[in-house]
Amino acid sequence: MPTSSSWWPPGDDTLVDGGLTLLPWSQVGTIAGAREDLFAASTDPRMVAWTTVPSPVTSEMLNEFFDSVPKGVLRWAIVVEDRYAGNIELRLKPDDAAHFGYNTAPWARGRGVMTRAVKLVTDYAFSLGAKTLRISVLPGNIASRHVAEMNEYVFVGKHNGHVHYHRHAE
Ligand SMILES: CC(C)(COP(=O)(O)OP(=O)(O)OC[C@H]1O[C@@H](n2cnc3c(N)ncnc32)[C@H](O)[C@@H]1OP(=O)(O)O)[C@@H](O)C(=O)NCCC(=O)NCCS
Repeated sequence: MPTSSSWWPPGDDTLVDGGLTLLPWSQVGTIAGAREDLFAASTDPRMVAWTTVPSPVTSEMLNEFFDSVPKGVLRWAIVVEDRYAGNIELRLKPDDAAHFGYNTAPWARGRGVMTRAVKLVTDYAFSLGAKTLRISVLPGNIASRHVAEMNEYVFVGKHNGHVHYHRHAE
């Protein structure tokens, strides 16, 4: 993490787009059933295939994820129809760029949730003064590549087994 940054740490803001709400992770406990929905999502086969979630994951690991956010990470719970629908986060990197991590709960997939969530967070970060945002994806993760491309993230190449996209502030 950089020792100083012009835009980090951001505030604890709720972001809203119609029926989609990004709730600061500090409030995730206010969503009914969120812990159970997070646990279910974390063992879903696509989560295991495409993310770094440990497999098998223990309840201790998930409780730690649920109860705290590491320094240098800004995380929101995605809420749709009053239900936990996934999470999205930015991780500040040493070069002052921020890197996305995200997942949609299985029940909420395929209806544009993550495309809209990435747009909300992208617009928010740029409005605060972020200069560069990045998304890295395993090559076969077509849904996640769509999310990046539909948000005008630009393909910059492949290395370390990942496909990399970035977007700069205008
Ligand atoms: C990747 C992921 C976050 C997408 O979330 P989502 O809310 O379903 O995404 P959207 O509904 O916004 O869909 C994005 C695009 O991908 C397409 N898509 C969705 N699922 C797809 C699939 N399984 N295969 C191919 N395309 C798919 C959608 O059709 C949409 O494109 P379109 O608008 O042109 O139709 C979700 O599949 C997920 O959580 N996967 C497991 C965790 C993960 O991969 N995280 C990202 C790691 S980089």
